[in-house]
Amino acid sequence: MTIIRDQNTSRGDFVFYSDRVIRLLVEEGLNYLPVVNKEVITPMGVPFQGVAFEGRICGVSIMRAGESMEQGLRDVCTSVRIGKVLIQRDERTAQPKLYYSKLPKDIADRWVLLLDPMLATGGSAMKCIEVLLEAGVKEERILFVNLICSPEGALAMLKMFPKLQIITAEIDEGMDENKFILPGLGDFGDRYFGTE
Ligand code: PRP
Ligand code: URA
Repeated sequence: MTIIRDQNTSRGDFVFYSDRVIRLLVEEGLNYLPVVNKEVITPMGVPFQGVAFEGRICGVSIMRAGESMEQGLRDVCTSVRIGKVLIQRDERTAQPKLYYSKLPKDIADRWVLLLDPMLATGGSAMKCIEVLLEAGVKEERILFVNLICSPEGALAMLKMFPKLQIITAEIDEGMDENKFILPGLGDFGDRYFGTE
C-alpha cells in the first residue's frame, strides 16, 4: 500500500503492487461466502471434515478502474463470469453517470463480487448496486471488494445498503474539495492504465 500510495512510484510498480493487493482482497472476499460441511477421504484413507461452497458467484466490475481487478478474480476462480457496468464520475461535480451495463443473465441467483478500487463519495458504487438490485441480486449477496475507501463513502453505502459487505484494504481520513480521497493514491484509473 505504501508503494502504490507513493507519487514517485513508476507505472509498472503501481500495476504490480496494486495487483498483489487486489489478489489478497479477492481471496479475502471469497472467505465471506457461506460454506457447507463436506467430508473427503484423503490419500491416507482417512476422512477429513472440510467445507465446500455450493453456490455460484460472478464478478461485476465498475468500469474503468474496476476492470483492473478482474484478473485477480480470474486467477482464483476458473471460468468466472464477469458483468460490467460503465459508470463515470463527472470531473466537475463528482456526480456518477451510468452509461452501460451488461450482466450475466442468471445474476439474480448468484453471489456478486463487486469490483472497484476507489470508494470516495460512494456515488458510483451505490449507482451500480441499484443496477444489481434491479437485476434481482439480493443485497446480502453483494460483496464490495475495494482498495481504499473514504469514511464518508463507506458510511453512506452501509446506510443505504445495510446488508452489503465491504472488503477493503484501508479506510482513509477523508476527501478533498474535489472529492478525491486523502491521503489516497490519486486517480487510480489514470495511474493503472497510464492515462495521466
Ligand atoms: C473512480 C473510481 C470509482 C469512483 C469513486 O472512477 O474508480 O468508480 O471514481 O468515486 P465516488 O465514490 O465518488 O463515486 P472514475 O469515475 O474516476 O472513472 P475511471 O474508473 O475511469 O477512473
Ligand atoms: N477516484 C479515484 O481514482 N481516486 C479518488 O481519490 C477518488 C475517485
